[in-house]
Amino acid sequence: MVAQQQSRVLVTGGAGYIGSHTCLELINSGYQPVVLDNLCNSSAESLRRVAALCGVDAVPFQQGDIRDGALLDRLFEQYPIRSVMHFAGLKAVGESVAQPLAYYDNNVGGTLSLVQAMQRHGVQRLIFSSSATVYGDPCTVPIREDFPRSATNPYGRSKLMIEDMLMDLHQAGPDWQLALLRYFNPVGAHPSGRIGEDPRGIPNNLMPYIARVAVGWYEQLSVFGNDFPTPDGTGVRDYIHVVDLAKGHVRALAAFEAGTVPNLLAVNLGTGQGYSVLDMVQAFGEACGRPIPYQMVGRRAGDVASCFADPALAQQLLGWRAELGLSAMCRDSWNWQYANPTGYDR
Ligand code: NAD
Ligand code: UD1
Repeated sequence: MVAQQQSRVLVTGGAGYIGSHTCLELINSGYQPVVLDNLCNSSAESLRRVAALCGVDAVPFQQGDIRDGALLDRLFEQYPIRSVMHFAGLKAVGESVAQPLAYYDNNVGGTLSLVQAMQRHGVQRLIFSSSATVYGDPCTVPIREDFPRSATNPYGRSKLMIEDMLMDLHQAGPDWQLALLRYFNPVGAHPSGRIGEDPRGIPNNLMPYIARVAVGWYEQLSVFGNDFPTPDGTGVRDYIHVVDLAKGHVRALAAFEAGTVPNLLAVNLGTGQGYSVLDMVQAFGEACGRPIPYQMVGRRAGDVASCFADPALAQQLLGWRAELGLSAMCRDSWNWQYANPTGYDR
């Protein structure tokens, strides 16, 4: 416990959706995060709320860019950082198709800059936000970590390139501890309703869109396709509560510290349970107390029919499994949306 309290964890992108929830779990587990975020898709208000929820004065925060090597050097000199959790990046698939260079620059270039700074300062422990997107269009489900990887868009390719870069780094320096955490579909919010997902503009993803229909921003949800080879014809995904996801990161960090897992770790973080779009509409309607209006429209380009994890490896290596089910995901997402109809108001 004492060792944990002395640890400093650099959290890039820590003001964002998953990063802010992970900062909270880190603090509650006795770690001390230091956040670097350029706020291109977030607000520092999330960190003020994390501090309040944890009963600490503040979460140390530096506004800035992971591509700024001199800034990274100052942070590594200022704080005794032993580990890095790396959430910073751009994540909108459609935008990545329109602006591929921005995605390679920010995601791949940013990670390169970060890892080079870690190397300069002798820090060799990194937990990276990968994605189920690295499985491309999977040939079968549930998806295991040893399935072939591929990309269907520049966002996905940036995650693949980063995974490859980190695998090469591990090959050259086996002492590096590198976790590639492949998230399935993160949803929900902290049960307090104080922190949550706050997408800019019209949400691309299902859950925040449904939440905004529920709160009256949008009239109805468009369901992208009802002719998939799934039980009700709509797309099936593995939705995972963001609090479970955040706890998975803390587990990975603790396992590296304890030396109980291989130094290169590629692990799915999902529930293993697939739900269709209509399952989500139904469950959210129950959580908010009124039905979610929807219309069927054509498929969205690039969508796969069914994508869900085999979560066995995370259980085996990290002793982690998702605990929160669909009703908690919808309840907490609704709580957050209802209490903060315009998000953090950045
Ligand atoms: P988010 O946009 O809420 O968080 C990302 C954070 O990184 C933001 O606060 C943003 O301001 C910051 N950032 C972006 N570029 C930066 C840079 N160059 N320097 C410093 N800060 C920068 O997104 P999120 O949903 O919390 O996702 C976190 C990570 O998880 C991302 O890498 C994303 O690709 C990955 N991921 C997300 C999902 C998902 O559905 N949310 C799924 C799989 C993987
Ligand atoms: C999308 C990205 C994926 C990324 C993930 C998390 C695409 C093609 N894939 O995954 O790379 O890792 O987000 O950011 O964009 N849906 C609707 N109506 C909507 C929105 C979504 O019916 O308004 C459906 C989709 O067709 C899908 C399901 O809901 O079947 C989930 O969609 P979404 O939340 O966007 O996640 P993914 O498509 O799984």
